[in-house]
Amino acid sequence: KSYEFIKAELTGANKKVALITLNRPKALNALCNGLMSELSNALDEIEANKNVAVVVITGSEKAFAAGADIKEMKDNTFAQCFAGNFLNNWNRVARMQKPVIAAVNGYALGGGCELAMMCDIIYAGDKAKFGQPEVTIGTTPGAGGSQRTPRALGKSKAMEMCLTGNMIDAQEAEKAGLVSKVIPADKLVEEAVKLGDKIASHSQLIVQMIKEQVNTAYETPLNEGLKFERRGFHASFGTKDQKEGMNAFTEKRAPKFIDE
Ligand code: HXC
Repeated sequence: KSYEFIKAELTGANKKVALITLNRPKALNALCNGLMSELSNALDEIEANKNVAVVVITGSEKAFAAGADIKEMKDNTFAQCFAGNFLNNWNRVARMQKPVIAAVNGYALGGGCELAMMCDIIYAGDKAKFGQPEVTIGTTPGAGGSQRTPRALGKSKAMEMCLTGNMIDAQEAEKAGLVSKVIPADKLVEEAVKLGDKIASHSQLIVQMIKEQVNTAYETPLNEGLKFERRGFHASFGTKDQKEGMNAFTEKRAPKFIDE
């Protein structure tokens, strides 16, 4: 399917990884409404496609995304933002059941950083830069920047980023725990797809249950989260893939998962 602002293709060893490339190079992948609705539609299709296990979202070497489209939104009024529920479709990425990996090269600023943080795992190219520069243009984060940075980086760093608009580089982002790995820029997408392939080799039913468990850690007190996890563990014994996984181990062979 062809889009104006993104590219979407199936890749990886068994074509189980959907690679979405944000493709608005002249505007450093500024996230205009058109781009976000294409992304949202592509993710709807991917979620429904049984052959796809994992999503990788990337941009260009210069920019993952330089934020929401400032030129498009600058004349909005409060009433228009409110009535149109501006940004409502932005959390499609965060609502994915399938794992989503962000492969970030170049700038991930404002909405771009927020989009990356909606993903489950962030791999950064060695020249990546992350920031929440909204404060420098007279607005606030709007798609999770003020909420996900403290969870990812701790309060002090999050405050510093959000209140100054200063960027942090890939190495700092890794040290602080925002990204799980820093990779040479030209190998980034390849490595992210490899990571996708590894995740895709497991039972997708179980993978998605585990994703839900880890996300629950952000939403609940520890005791509730532990209960939720325990129940998921119990539930896994109702799946064919649990039987297959444990039988394969016992029989010293590789498991063949069927996602049931
Ligand atoms: C619209 C953008 C843009 C953006 C870049 N461009 N970012 N257009 N919205 N967010 C456009 C520029 O206007 C320019 O277009 C072209 O992309 C190239 O950008 P330059 O600035 O010439 O490139 P460079 O000098 O290399 O500087 C790169 C940059 C800078 C540091 C990333 O572009 C920048 O500061 N961008 C804005 C970053 C930002 O403030 N993001 C937060 C947005 S608010 P022309 O036509 O001149 O060539 C936000 C709110 C989130 O995201 C709320 C929830 C979504």
